[in-house]
Amino acid sequence: MEAETTDKTKNKNSLNDQEQEKEVKVDNMSDQDKNKIETKNTNGLGYKWPEPIVRVQSLAESKLTTFPYRYIKPPSQRPQITTINHKPEAAAINIPIIDLVSLFSGNEYEKKRLSEACCEWGFFQVINHGVRPELMDAAKEGWKNFFNLPIEAKEAYSNSPKTYEGYGSRLGVEKGAILDWSDYYFLHFLPLLLKDFNKWPSLPSNIREVMDEYGKELVKLGGRLMRVLSSNLGLKEEQLQESFGGEDVGACLRVNYYPKCPRPELALGLSSHSDPGGITILFPDDQVVGLQVRHGDTWITVNPLRHAFIVNIGDQVQILSNSGYKSVEHRVIVNSEKERVSLAFFYNPKSDIPIQPLQQLVTSTNPPLYPPMTFDQYRLFIRTQGPRGKSHVDSHISSR
Ligand code: OGA
Ligand code: NI
Repeated sequence: MEAETTDKTKNKNSLNDQEQEKEVKVDNMSDQDKNKIETKNTNGLGYKWPEPIVRVQSLAESKLTTFPYRYIKPPSQRPQITTINHKPEAAAINIPIIDLVSLFSGNEYEKKRLSEACCEWGFFQVINHGVRPELMDAAKEGWKNFFNLPIEAKEAYSNSPKTYEGYGSRLGVEKGAILDWSDYYFLHFLPLLLKDFNKWPSLPSNIREVMDEYGKELVKLGGRLMRVLSSNLGLKEEQLQESFGGEDVGACLRVNYYPKCPRPELALGLSSHSDPGGITILFPDDQVVGLQVRHGDTWITVNPLRHAFIVNIGDQVQILSNSGYKSVEHRVIVNSEKERVSLAFFYNPKSDIPIQPLQQLVTSTNPPLYPPMTFDQYRLFIRTQGPRGKSHVDSHISSR
């Protein structure tokens, strides 16, 4: 036991030394070389989490006598206080529902509703999206089975803050941070260079095959959504996709697992955040609600339609649209009755090209609100700090 602890400390120190060494060397380099080193080698994040990882699932399955303080949110962030959806009139409010077939057939009313959805809500549910319901069910079932495997089977895929790929239980590396009541699995579809089946689970036995197809279908859906969003912004259909790097977009998936929580009024499944990437296509649990979207000063609980996807605008599209489209804060509440599984697919710009407000959407009276920044640089903030409302995109607003 003792020896193991010492070894771990040694290991940690030697990694720290390596990092420090790199920093020293970086000081003597040109800016261009620094960038290369930072994105290729260190990414600014270490190989280890700052504290031992506790699986939320194992906490939920243990007989807790007290609720662990690390999951107790400060009173201002707790769900009950800010949730106003218990008012009968608010309960009827839901995010807009958009029919993709109707949109593609050029229905003007549907186009107007899409604009409203993107400018006012930042969120909509999409129906007639073309992804087979059987495939969606197989994907959901596969991940439920994965999370139901014994903890040891999942630990083989344990992730690190360096790439986040694999089985994880925290976002952000800040020591002592208040944590979210969820575990997750993170994997890449695109670029193909990052797609690595060995980093995907091998069980249940068909999960790789199912998720491979799911990934391909969602990349296609992402591309179609990019075209409708682009023309809805008054741009040519291909513009948004071109600004994302054309064929070289990024696509990845975070499967969220929210175990039952004995004190749902004190915790959050996922803290308030906006998605850093381009667009998010969420397959929520249609049996268990949990996602809440900020609308003005109200949190709206989304009532998911069966086999619909929930689409939301990410920070990169807010930036490209010069804040015409909104990347809206959202969070996930938990409950004591049912566990919940959701599949969040992120369609992102190529990670090393600068993203900035599109020239066509900028005028002298509507100057660019954001300086150019690559998605790699941008994502680093989130990966270091964890979910934090909209402070990321807002902190990048140019000071003019
Ligand atoms: C996310 C997210 C919502 C959900 O993964 O970024 O917002 O319902 N998920 O799990
Ligand atoms: Ni999100």
